[in-house]
Amino acid sequence: MDIKKAVIPVAGWGTRSLPATKNVPKEMLPIYKKPIVQYIVEEAIGAGLQDVVFITNQNKKIIEDHFDRNFLLEQLLDRGGKTALLEEVQKVANICNMISVRQKEQLGLGHAVLCAKEVCKNEPFAVMLGDDLMFGLNAGICELLDAARTEGKAVVGVIEVPEDKVNRYGIIQGEEFAPNMFHVRKLVEKPKPEDAPSNLAITGRYVLLPEIFDILENQEPGVGGEIQLTDALQGLADQDKLIAVKLQGQRFDAGDWVEYLTANIYFALHDEELHDDLVKRLMELLPCTELK
Ligand code: G1P
Repeated sequence: MDIKKAVIPVAGWGTRSLPATKNVPKEMLPIYKKPIVQYIVEEAIGAGLQDVVFITNQNKKIIEDHFDRNFLLEQLLDRGGKTALLEEVQKVANICNMISVRQKEQLGLGHAVLCAKEVCKNEPFAVMLGDDLMFGLNAGICELLDAARTEGKAVVGVIEVPEDKVNRYGIIQGEEFAPNMFHVRKLVEKPKPEDAPSNLAITGRYVLLPEIFDILENQEPGVGGEIQLTDALQGLADQDKLIAVKLQGQRFDAGDWVEYLTANIYFALHDEELHDDLVKRLMELLPCTELK
């Protein structure tokens, strides 16, 4: 299965991260030195995908600009002899082929994916959501691509979540046919804990085949009045055409403040230059915070 495209929906409002996201797209909030969306694109490219398809809207232009050249800045860095920074900003601009599709109305994740129909046409493709950050060797979309190629089916990435968090996710029920791999039988979008068929939650990583577009075109709105990708995937599960892979690696939910802040610290701690000073400063702060 030849998979080249990563569809990255970026048209959402990011209400969970307000007021930070009032005028800055949530995908552009930094995690340590890079905006969230850069981690997603790097994961895609690292897994061998070549084309990034942003499903975007008129308020998100700076995402495209981030992956484009900025000649004024480059001149400034060049004149100042800041070679390492110059190389870094040029590298981001050259990291991927970029295609943008406007989602003119925000009708749900299923609708966002349907917007990629004309671009993906008859090709299988990956879908990667910016709220889920995955780190580790070959973590994230790479694991799904391997499974899709071996099984020849659509794939969703899942993780185990505590019972009180199932209502934040699409939850699957499946039969494990190999370690950490499931034939998906049922999916429920954001169920109450008592209605959840398991604690296996869909993370924002999918590999889909073009047949999903026919299902999405006829998909009625579901939870929240939105056209849900999860509901469309039930159509595949009913035909035994969907598998789930339990993802390894470190995951952060960038739309959750605790997770977002932890991700920042996680990356900063991995930077040798910052590590010792950061630990020292955090240790100074911790006792005071606990007293309050
Ligand atoms: C979307 C999907 C949901 C999935 C989640 C993962 O929900 O609809 O099934 O579990 O992404 O992040 P959202 O977070 O956009 O509401």
